[in-house]
Formats: sequence, C-alpha cells, structure tokens
Amino acid sequence: MKNCDLPAIITALGGRQALQDLLGVGPSAISNYLARGALPQRAHAPVCEALRARGWQIDPASLAFSSLESGHSVGRRVLLIIGGGIAAYKALEVARRLQDHDVTVTGVMTSGAREFITPLSLSALTASKTFTDLFSLTDEAEMGHIRLAREADLVLVAPATANLMARTANGLADDLATTILLATTAPVLMAPAMNPAMWANPATQDNLHRLRARGVHFVGPAAGDMACGEEGTGRLSEPEAIVGAAKDLLHPPSAEGPLAGRHAIVTSGPTVEPIDSVRFIANRSSGKQGHAIAAALAHRGARVTLVSGPVGIPTPQQHVDLVPVETARDMLSACEAALPADIAVCAAAVADWHVTGVLDGKMKKTDGGAPPALSLAENPDILRHLATHASRPRLVVGFAAEAEDLHANAMAKLARKGCDWIVANNVTTADGAPVFGNDNNSATLFTGNDSEDWPQMSKVALADRLATRIEAHFA
Ligand code: PMT
Repeated sequence: MKNCDLPAIITALGGRQALQDLLGVGPSAISNYLARGALPQRAHAPVCEALRARGWQIDPASLAFSSLESGHSVGRRVLLIIGGGIAAYKALEVARRLQDHDVTVTGVMTSGAREFITPLSLSALTASKTFTDLFSLTDEAEMGHIRLAREADLVLVAPATANLMARTANGLADDLATTILLATTAPVLMAPAMNPAMWANPATQDNLHRLRARGVHFVGPAAGDMACGEEGTGRLSEPEAIVGAAKDLLHPPSAEGPLAGRHAIVTSGPTVEPIDSVRFIANRSSGKQGHAIAAALAHRGARVTLVSGPVGIPTPQQHVDLVPVETARDMLSACEAALPADIAVCAAAVADWHVTGVLDGKMKKTDGGAPPALSLAENPDILRHLATHASRPRLVVGFAAEAEDLHANAMAKLARKGCDWIVANNVTTADGAPVFGNDNNSATLFTGNDSEDWPQMSKVALADRLATRIEAHFA
C-alpha cells in the first residue's frame, strides 16, 4: 500500500464505478482503499495505464499525477501466456512481481494450464480479466484476440511446454495462446519447463533453434530436481530470473554503451559428455570466468548470448540471454544458432572427446569382471568452427588453458584455431590453487604478434580488462 490522493485519482478516472471496473473489485474494496488513503500495489500499473490513456501524466512511484504536456515513459504491458505444466503455479508469482515494476499484466491460459491453476487466481493477482478461449463471443467483444496480441509490449510464455513450443515453431493457431503468438508483432520471451528427456529430445531442440532463429527469446530452463522426481535440465527458471529477462526486453539496452548494437556470443562452463544415463565425463570449470565476460560485455551495451554448460552460479541478468547446454555438440549447435554475431569469446572448457555408443540405462559392474573400455571420439572444435564460419564474427577470442610453455602453446593455438586473440591462462595455479573454480586468474593476452601480461586479479577484473580491449577494438 502506498499513500496517494485517491479521491483525485477516482475523479480523473471518471468515478468510483470506473475504478471498480478497472480493478475488478466491488464498492467495499474502494471504500477500504479510501479509508486507508492508498491503493494496493497490484492496482498501481492498471491505474497508471488508465490515467495515461485519459491524458494524465503519472509518477508510478508516488502516484502523483498532472496533465500530460509532453511524452513520458509509459507503463509497459505484458501478455502472460501460461502453458499447462506443474510449473504453472510459478507463473502467478511472475505476474505478481512484474507488477512491482509498473508493468500491467494481462493473462492468457491454455486449457492445460487450467488443469493446474484457475483463471480466477490470475485475474485476482493481475486485477484484470484472464482470457482463455479463442471462440468466446464475450472475450472477442471485449478485446479481440488480434488486439490482445498487438497491444502488448511483450508476450511472455511461462511455462512454455514442449507442446506449446512445438505448436509455435510450426505456426499452428489452434487455440488462443498459439493464435496470439502467431499474430503478435511484440517480442516474445519463452520460459520453457518440461521433463529433462523432453527438453533434450532432438525434436524440442530443433523447435528451440527454429524459434530462436525467428527472434524468440528464451530464459532457462534451469537444471535441478524436477517435480516428476527426475533430475536434469528442464525446470522453469526462478520468477526473479524470468522477470529480469522480461524487464531487459521491455527496457532494451540504452544506445549509449560503447558496444550497443553489437551481439556477442560467449561460451562458458564445462561440457558434460555422457557415458551412460547416469555417468558422465566433465571438468571442474565453474563458469566464473566466462560468465564474468558475458556480464562485462553486456555492461558495455552488447547483447550477449551466453552458451553455458551446467554451472552452479547465477546468470548475469542484464541483456544476457542464457542458452544452457550439456555436451560439446549441443554447445556447437547453440553457437551456430546464435550467429550472426560481432564478437565471440570462447571461455568454455570444452571436452575434447565424447564417449561413443552411450548406453541407454546404467552400465552394470560385474563382480570380478574387467572394467569397461570406453571408446572416445573427437568433439567438434567450437572456437575453430566459429573462426572459420561463413558468418564469422568480426572478432573471435579464444582461451588457452595451459599447464606449461604458456607462450609457445598459446601462439600455436592462435594459429591452429584461426582466432584473432587468445587469452592464455596458466590453469595449474592462481593463489597456489587451481584456476578452475577459483575467483582469481592471471593471463597473457595475445593479439597477433603483440602480447600483454595481466597479473593476478579477480576473474571479474580480468573480464573487465578483456571487455575494455574489445571495446577499444570496435571503437
Ligand atoms: O570456469 P572457471 O572455473 O572460471 O575457469 C575458467 C577457465 C580456466 C575454464 C577459462 O579461463 C579457460 O581457460 N577456458 C578455456 C579452457 C579450455 O578448454 O582451453 P583449451 O586450451 O583446451 O581450448 C582452447 C580454446 O578452444 C578455448 O577457447 C576453448 O573454449 C576452445 N575449444 C576447445 C575444444 C573444443 N572442442 N572446442 C573449443 O571451442
């Protein structure tokens, strides 16, 4: 609740009935608000929007308003499409938190979503009607589906189920949600949530790449325990992360950053190569260095696609689009799908090999039997692939994780991989501890025939140095 001049707001809106209709509440609620001299937080966004529509200028923080004389930043409108999955309940929290940022939320629910939560819950939280039916005469009379699709500043799909992604990727329009997704001209943000096997299925991954190629944005899914009892990648991202991604799209980066308008692909973290359904080969990369580089580039205004293997650290919020992957081959496809880009920085510790003939199930240990022999095949070289691609980013930066002969090995890698720069770090030690997982790092930057030694510093500071050099390169 926030104190405000409620009688004046009611007059400006055209009376008590208008406020009741706007908020979907009865006369006693208005009396309560008047007695307290305040409106509940969830009412702020619709009230701000209605006042602006009537020609008033309003400060969303204080709810002080005056006549509109010049253009003013308006509250943003999000059309929240809730798909049918157990994570649907989390979408209610997303709706609530969006309104804390002066965002008006209108809800749309698929028939599947209505098996998990009710339209009434969503309407109560958004203080506006929730739309469910493509062929509802009442809904069409109030707000046609095309208008619903067009009036949004952002269409957010949470949870985006495998089914909803597949129907959207194929351009189906067989219910209200998919019709809106086909008709909208607003940016679309999807927050997928599904069983890990469904997420990993090539059909879903193919739909993901097709949607991404058409400009659909994604947040998550996250890795962890699933409601179905399995573990893996497929959880709906936390509401905070979804709201952060939505805010980034509603308020795109200012054109002021030195790298504004540039797109950067950053790889980070380890890759995980399965042996069977429960075992894998991986390494100790924490993603700290790669994620810090993504944040430093985004801070300078670049739009960053962060392609990362499984890590336990948060994704930088501002202007960073995370593509979670597991294997080197997934990482390559994700980088390929993210092209074109101006900058590529490959900081991931990519496994050089994967196991062939991965067993579906668990490899059995037999008493007294010989240990199994793993057969390995070489993984694609993502850095080299990007550096030799037809749509090669203008600046391709690799990392060299070296344990000895740093200078010679880094120069050889620079030539072999075809990249422009190499950041060589001695991975055996930082502070007397291994660099993998450490908060600190030291490196030598090789830019062709020149090199610069960077002493030990935090990975964040090292990322900042690299971003400053990239900024200078583009200047
Ligand atoms: O994640 P942290 O715990 O913060 O640790 C950071 C780090 C030590 C992982 C990072 O600073 C680092 O050195 N990353 C590169 C690790 C690595 O795999 O280096 P490499 O020398 O094996 O590979 C050379 C380059 O080729 C790297 O840019 C790598 O991303 C890339 N590569 C390697 C193999 C492959 N199949 N594809 C690739 O793209």
